[in-house]
Amino acid sequence: MLFNFVSNQINQIKKCAVTSIKTFEREQTFSNKISMKTKPALTKFEIHPLLKERWSPRAFSDQMIETEKLQRMFEAARWAPSSSNEQPWSFIVGRKGDSVYANIFSTLVEFNQLWAASAPVLILAIARKSSIKNPEKENHSARYDLGQAIAYLTFQAAADGLFVHQMGGFDLKKAAELFNVPENHLVVTVTAVGYIGDPEILHPNLKPMEYAERLRKPLTEQVFGTKFGESIDFVE
Ligand SMILES: Cc1cc2nc3c(=O)[nH]c(=O)nc-3n(C[C@H](O)[C@H](O)[C@H](O)COP(=O)(O)O)c2cc1C
Repeated sequence: MLFNFVSNQINQIKKCAVTSIKTFEREQTFSNKISMKTKPALTKFEIHPLLKERWSPRAFSDQMIETEKLQRMFEAARWAPSSSNEQPWSFIVGRKGDSVYANIFSTLVEFNQLWAASAPVLILAIARKSSIKNPEKENHSARYDLGQAIAYLTFQAAADGLFVHQMGGFDLKKAAELFNVPENHLVVTVTAVGYIGDPEILHPNLKPMEYAERLRKPLTEQVFGTKFGESIDFVE
């Protein structure tokens, strides 16, 4: 028992040391003004580098996104799967300096306004809540499908060296009014996209989050066997 306790403590110390070294290395990279590309997921099993290295930064560089990259992002979203192929998503895109961007930005909660101003592009994501084939009925998959479209957009953006940060913290009603969103549609998220920036531009309260390790629940709490909550061997 004592052996287990000591060995657990040693493992904890090792984990902290590794995290501190990684954070230190990242800070060094930033202070040398070399742009950071990754804050990799500390995975239990190996995954595709695009998935491993994607994360949601709050500091963006002021470089605008090239038109071809914007085109590819929305082309990728377009090819996401959806229930009955209804493709219930729409996007309103603001580029820094235009009135669409200013209007989307004006809907963000104060916390998000603290950082999102550095993003060159803000996207308002909208889901059609009524079914197209059967307009009387609700499309229960609308938000799910929109989420998948954003995931496609996110990974295409990542393949092009861009980073995406989604937000739920904004005034949905104000956004719907500002952009004449029809009644049978839902305003769901605002997404910031751009090239990664220097965390030192962030408000002091936000810097620690930018440097922090990315955390996830263990797979054993998410993937089950015979019954809900019951373990399955291959994730242990
Ligand atoms: C639907 C949705 C809403 C979110 N809302 C906010 C938000 O309002 N503000 C914010 O700073 N981050 C927001 N996030 C970002 C999450 O906090 C972030 O994805 C999560 O902490 C995991 O971090 P990672 O993406 O770097 O792995 C949101 C993410 C999603 C998918």
